[in-house]
Amino acid sequence: MRVTFASPDQKRTGAYVVFAMDGGKLSASAGDLDKATGGGLKRALKNSKFKGRRGQTLTVLGPRGVKASRIVILGIGKPNKLDTLAAQSLGGAIYRILGGSGDKSASVLLDTIKGVKLGGAEFAANLAFGCHLRSYRFDKYRTKEKDDDKPSLKSVAVMLRDVAGARRRFSPLRNIADGVFFTRDLVSEPANVIYPISFVSRLRALTKLGVKLQVLDEKQMKKLGMGALLGVAQGSANAPRLVAMRWNGAPRAKDKRPIAFVGKGVTFDTGGISIKPAGGMEDMKWDMGGAGVVSGVMHALAARKAKVNAVGIVGLVENMPSSTAQRPGDVVKTMSGQTIEVINTDAEGRLVLADAMWWCQKMFKPHTIIDLATLTGAIIISLGYHHAGLFANNDKLAEQLTEAGKDTNEAVWRMPLGDAYDKQVRSQIADMKNVGGRDAGSITAAQILQRFIQKDVAWAHLDIAGVTWSNSDSATVPRGGTGFGVRLLDTLVSKHYEGK
Ligand code: BES
Ligand code: MN
Ligand code: ZN
Repeated sequence: MRVTFASPDQKRTGAYVVFAMDGGKLSASAGDLDKATGGGLKRALKNSKFKGRRGQTLTVLGPRGVKASRIVILGIGKPNKLDTLAAQSLGGAIYRILGGSGDKSASVLLDTIKGVKLGGAEFAANLAFGCHLRSYRFDKYRTKEKDDDKPSLKSVAVMLRDVAGARRRFSPLRNIADGVFFTRDLVSEPANVIYPISFVSRLRALTKLGVKLQVLDEKQMKKLGMGALLGVAQGSANAPRLVAMRWNGAPRAKDKRPIAFVGKGVTFDTGGISIKPAGGMEDMKWDMGGAGVVSGVMHALAARKAKVNAVGIVGLVENMPSSTAQRPGDVVKTMSGQTIEVINTDAEGRLVLADAMWWCQKMFKPHTIIDLATLTGAIIISLGYHHAGLFANNDKLAEQLTEAGKDTNEAVWRMPLGDAYDKQVRSQIADMKNVGGRDAGSITAAQILQRFIQKDVAWAHLDIAGVTWSNSDSATVPRGGTGFGVRLLDTLVSKHYEGK
């Protein structure tokens, strides 16, 4: 679907979208349409429960006296509460109502509304952003869907005076949306399509944006002593890869220490020899969600030419049971020199990240590392599907992430770390074991990660197991792969790490 901006004197097509405030008061354009339709809108209002609450809609089909196929009245709620997030969710509502309506195009008639603090261009750009984000659909494998069942809406024109301003503000948002879609595509693909080597092929697209790729194969990883990552990979016929994506956008300082993002990229997690139950195992195709987000963030940063030095690392492996798979009880040696007793081969993400994060620090000397991983089922027990778990060794970074989460509606909730939890992963025969028992499962996983963070590095870990996939639509996120994390981290960078 295409979103464009046009001035109010341009030709309108398809469905018209107008606005009403809390209480049902119509916007100026809505008032004009009411007159043109001989009071059609007010009659519809009177005969409905529509109150103008934010996201509420009322549709008048085939109105008399105007060219519109239909008029959608969209509630904005209280004008003074309308912020960028609200504008995005209104954009999402437009797609929700019109996406499958039969209309191919829509004209959104934006007016200056009294009491709205958000500027017109800002409102328009965020509305477009939300509408575009909601229009995502992963349908490449459907060969028999009838045209009638496919979404009909092909273009939305947001009409306002300040077209140039809206376009200018929309430009970085479009780059961010491209990053979100890049992530959603990766996450949605099945594991016979996305495995480590094919994941790397997808990443080649980033080089066109100026991102430099460095790819390590098995042999190189072996030489570097990455026994933990390789131990996970050894049961699979699909060879592992470790990738660094570099974006150097900081002004005048090509060698400035970067911020780093590290993603768990388990392209399929069977559990290995500690095999998972069959029910729901198909979900483990998105156990590369962390790597997907890291790739999408790098896409967004490079596309909008962010003034930051950033590096994205993805550890790509497939966790399979086979005669070459690692066994419970095996001891592996990480690149850091620390050894891990693998009690449960299904606790594999931390093994991959241990080597990926160590390599990241050795190679790129980042001042900050944020890792993302669909790491534990336990985080879903703690936080459900509405917050990612946040663990950090640095309060400032934790606050910045929490704030960015509120700004983007990608909420994170801080969880504790501490020595008492760290004790749970002591091993009889190695430096640590890879599981700490049932209690505090997400925290003990984070404790293991922390053992691979060097002293001077600010670190945060996001456990995104509960937020990477959604089984229901929300305002700007259709069901399926959410892309959660791309907007969050892009906002974190733009607010705190750019141009300094
Ligand atoms: N990939 C899973 C975690 C997961 C579960 C992600 C559900 C998304 C949805 C991870 O590798 C795993 O298997 N974790 C185990 C750890 C346990 C063996 C200590 C878990 O959560 O059960
Ligand atoms: Mn697992
Ligand atoms: Zn996993």
